[in-house]
Amino acid sequence: MNTDERNELVILPDPAALAEDAARRFVALARAAIKDGGRFCVALSGGSTPRALHERLARQHRDEVDWEKVYVFWGDERFVPPDDPESCFRMARETLLDHVPIPAANIFPLPTVGGTPEAAAKAYAETLVAFFGAGTPRFDLIFLGMGPDGHTASLFPGQPEVVAPSGELVVAVHNSPKPPPTRFTCTYRLLNAAANVIFLLAGADKASALYEVLRGPADIARLPAQGVRPERGALVWLVDAAAASKL
Ligand code: 6PG
Repeated sequence: MNTDERNELVILPDPAALAEDAARRFVALARAAIKDGGRFCVALSGGSTPRALHERLARQHRDEVDWEKVYVFWGDERFVPPDDPESCFRMARETLLDHVPIPAANIFPLPTVGGTPEAAAKAYAETLVAFFGAGTPRFDLIFLGMGPDGHTASLFPGQPEVVAPSGELVVAVHNSPKPPPTRFTCTYRLLNAAANVIFLLAGADKASALYEVLRGPADIARLPAQGVRPERGALVWLVDAAAASKL
């Protein structure tokens, strides 16, 4: 990956510095979006790495954001009830949303109860279009993580949506190699329409995949994170020293 003004690689000494840097970027982007357009639309990530970011936003940076004008969505979710320990919504609620003055009407979790994953994915796509209007929704910011296998959101190596993108906004995912097996994910179409995408990576277990994704040949089917390339937006890799140890 060539680092230029739109593609940035930032290496922080440790997970705490990573979370703080990400929180400051959230605050800055929120302020700019609210000043320009009256609202800030963000998609959160699942996994463990965003926890520290959420906690910093809820504590150290709580009063720096106009939460009334923040709208929260998810880049992916597990097909589990919203109170399930595996729920990305639950994690975000417990680490951030329950601790900031954001109106409940501004929070858009994926519908994970009742119906099929396909119907729920379709319903979420309709929610996105109803909120953003026709065309491909353009988030102000999307947070993403990456697994040791190079997956991101719930776009896993060799999976249909990665190998032959459907053109949908949100799709159901089955047989996910990372539990739980049934999930939803935003697609490259949605991810690459964003104004800003920030990858958050911490830990040595990500080092090999990060090296391949950034320095290796293009092979999206094997390294889905390589498929994230915002067309008219900025891409920032925020990684800690351990994750960057092979760069
Ligand atoms: C999920 C995520 C997934 C995650 C990576 C990294 O729902 O599991 O969206 O893509 O971001 O697997 O997970 P960690 O942050 O726990 O390493």
